[in-house]
Amino acid sequence: MKTEIVRVDRDHPDADAIARAAACLRRGGLVAFPTETVYGLGVHALDRAAVLRLFEAKQRPANDPLIVHVASIDAIVGLVAEVPGAAHQLAATFWPGPLTLVMRRAPTVPDEVTAGLDTVAVRVPSHPVARALLEAARLPIAAPSANLFSRPSPTRAEHVLEDLDGRIDMIVDGGPTDVGVESTVVDVTVDPPVILRPGMLGIDTLRDVIPDLAQPPSPLRGVGGPGASGQPRSPGLLAKHYAPTAPLTLFRGDATAVTRALRHAAQRALAQRRRVGVLATSGDVGMLRDLPVSLADLGPDDNMARIAARLYAALRELDAQRVDVILARDPTGGDDLARAIRDRLQRAAAEVVDV
Ligand code: TXA
Ligand code: MG
Repeated sequence: MKTEIVRVDRDHPDADAIARAAACLRRGGLVAFPTETVYGLGVHALDRAAVLRLFEAKQRPANDPLIVHVASIDAIVGLVAEVPGAAHQLAATFWPGPLTLVMRRAPTVPDEVTAGLDTVAVRVPSHPVARALLEAARLPIAAPSANLFSRPSPTRAEHVLEDLDGRIDMIVDGGPTDVGVESTVVDVTVDPPVILRPGMLGIDTLRDVIPDLAQPPSPLRGVGGPGASGQPRSPGLLAKHYAPTAPLTLFRGDATAVTRALRHAAQRALAQRRRVGVLATSGDVGMLRDLPVSLADLGPDDNMARIAARLYAALRELDAQRVDVILARDPTGGDDLARAIRDRLQRAAAEVVDV
């Protein structure tokens, strides 16, 4: 299969290009497109055969359910069995935007989309290209992140091409995405609702609307792993995920102590003739300049928006340099985005070191 790349303006995507992508989706094709979080790999959500092709293209296990993207809250009628009050409130405040709501599913949604669960995840994205595509296609679009399974999510069209060239029909290239980490997933089938995956909209922001919203469990304690019932609550949230090829060691603790520990670890690995990559903030770049390590600069350590936007691209850059190990630091901030970054780093990590 030849993968066609269509470049569009982020804010004013060309109508003909969008119409072609929409037609491809209606025919059951696989089309990658930018959302405000990461690139999604879209497919007609009610076309079972197409959904199966999507799982195959991504090499995604069938037990990992997909998010269904729609143009507006009105479009979820027919996909869900009921819209709980909390969902109405959250949707009214945060849609369109980087928030996914898990609700009881309607029978029309194929099992292939929900991985056989009795719930379905839905979201209304805010990215102009995603919106244009949803409006043109007039379909619910199931879209996981457009990466090969367990690779870092794509934040640029080039990342999609890297993983999926020849495996999908089309990539709508609308430039880099804005947020850089995936949407917040909130389960509104339970009372109080619970965050299953932290994102840019985190507990601080969401509690303005739902004051008793429950915290996400730590990924290190195995989010998505079997609960009391033995059934994973959100299978795609298994701890080891979003990982680069090289094993990543995450250092946590006091900022100065972490810098020292990073430097020591780099020196030790270099002494063993290993190629070292560092997911570095601006401060580390200066501290490690004299060592022959590959640095992926995330920018200032207090700029969470910048770190989130750069994170996955930086992991891919280090992989492309074929490093043997990646060293990274826990973000310093305590806000919603810092928590989302921390969550992704912990899932990517082979090892966490408290200094
Ligand atoms: O920002 C995003 O959410 C991006 C863009 C493309 O929208 N999509 C994305 O999709 O990250 P994906 O498939 O990589 O992650 C979807 C997550 C998975 O962790 C999955 O387990 C969870 O949502 N999920 C989907 N349906 C669910 C359900 N019915 N119940 C619980 N979790 C669900
Ligand atoms: Mg994903």
